[in-house]
Amino acid sequence: MQTFQPSRRELAGLLMAGSAMAQQSDVDVLKKAMDGLTEGIAKAGQDPERPVYHFHPPARWNNDPNGTIFYKGWHHMFYQLNPFDSVWGHMHWGHARSRDMVDWEHLPIALGPSLEKGEAHIFSGAAFLADDGRPRIFYTSIGVKRDPEQWLAIPESDDLIRWKKHPANPILDLKIHGSLTVTDWRDPFLFREAGKTYMVCGGNLNGRKRGGGGAVQLYEATKGDLSAWKFRGPVFKSRDEDTINFECPNLFKVGAKWVLIVSPHKPCEYWVGDLDLEKVQFVPQMHGVLDAGNSYASNISYDDKGRCILWLWGKTQNNPAKGWQNCMALPRILTVDDYGYLRQNPAPELEALRGPMVELPEANLTEKPLPLPRSVSGDCLEIETKMSGKGATVGMRVRGKTEVSFNPRDGMLTVGKVKKLIGIGQPVKLRVFLDKRVLEVYAKEGAAAIFTTVEAGPEEMGVEVFSRGGQGKMDWLKAWPLRSAKFSMDGFKG
Ligand code: FRU
Repeated sequence: MQTFQPSRRELAGLLMAGSAMAQQSDVDVLKKAMDGLTEGIAKAGQDPERPVYHFHPPARWNNDPNGTIFYKGWHHMFYQLNPFDSVWGHMHWGHARSRDMVDWEHLPIALGPSLEKGEAHIFSGAAFLADDGRPRIFYTSIGVKRDPEQWLAIPESDDLIRWKKHPANPILDLKIHGSLTVTDWRDPFLFREAGKTYMVCGGNLNGRKRGGGGAVQLYEATKGDLSAWKFRGPVFKSRDEDTINFECPNLFKVGAKWVLIVSPHKPCEYWVGDLDLEKVQFVPQMHGVLDAGNSYASNISYDDKGRCILWLWGKTQNNPAKGWQNCMALPRILTVDDYGYLRQNPAPELEALRGPMVELPEANLTEKPLPLPRSVSGDCLEIETKMSGKGATVGMRVRGKTEVSFNPRDGMLTVGKVKKLIGIGQPVKLRVFLDKRVLEVYAKEGAAAIFTTVEAGPEEMGVEVFSRGGQGKMDWLKAWPLRSAKFSMDGFKG
């Protein structure tokens, strides 16, 4: 797990840098960060293993998607960025926008720490419309020598490129909780209900000790410009003894149902239920693991079609020497199914990445793997298939050896090293996205979604289908080579 607070060494470094650093204005800070990021581009761009259609920054390290918002025709994504290195640290907010969630335009870094005000990091948060119809950014300000605070930033124009920090910051500090002690207090997320605007923040109520203190705190805006808030109380507490803390809570509506997603220092979990704002109580009905793979720190946006879009940090290889680390999972459309569980399906816009389709007819699957033709090979592919087995595990291996399979006896989906129970019903429909060494799999019409990575050498490009423990059947298979997404740098310098 990554570092979640500035390390001691980092704090000491910041303190030692002392007045010279503290005198840097916000403009200087952003300029230095842009220089740092720009210097990293050549190296990151040389790596043939970097994903090409999963969103990623120009270079260096990213983690959580932040402030995801659809505004004036653009999907905006801000994200946790270290502009100076490809490991976690020096948190800034990177920024990009897209018309279609497929091709992106990198924009100048939006937020950096106000050193002269004692900020060390800009942690995760949200973008949300105030009563004047214009977005605001809310984020957790980590100080060099103080407790976390929630800060507000205001856009200078509708392109959301330049931001000013609100003079009233901090707009929330720990004192708002009165006698309640909230530890690891961070990651504001906003929603609107019945004409009022609310915020939730993560944290825990027992000093991060064992015993399941993870809790979601609820606040209500008392001013239309969202610069003043009151604490309503914890709206949801962990029911799991092992869950010491909740990060990045998202509380939002999908259709008529309320959904709560949390990042509990292990794969994100969700509950579908009801929200009683009078009683300050989220009442869960269904529970699930959002993505059993290597994704984390969710965020949400709604587009002009009323779709609810899920954004997730995708953790990739741990190799900072390559000049980059991590990306985002594919944008997923969220729905609640007839059983009350979440479904996640890749945004249909991603079909724009497809090259010519290759379609394979029905085939018997046996223990002897069936290699697919050369036209269905490579490291940038989408594969869709419907398979079943009479008691046999059925599936495929991509990039030579990484298994994507389903066992109808125990209902287990396997995606590389990740296992997820998806129920025994078959046939199973699998949708597989391969992007260099990133593998993202959707099963049973989005009942399960998994982001993970594969180990593969440059020559391992083949795909084969197989069954294990008996005969299986492939009803059909469709495959497409996928192009790279465009990551325009035209607006990067602002
Ligand atoms: C989640 C998280 C957040 C925090 C941010 C810091 O990955 O730890 O809780 O705001 O990352 O980068």
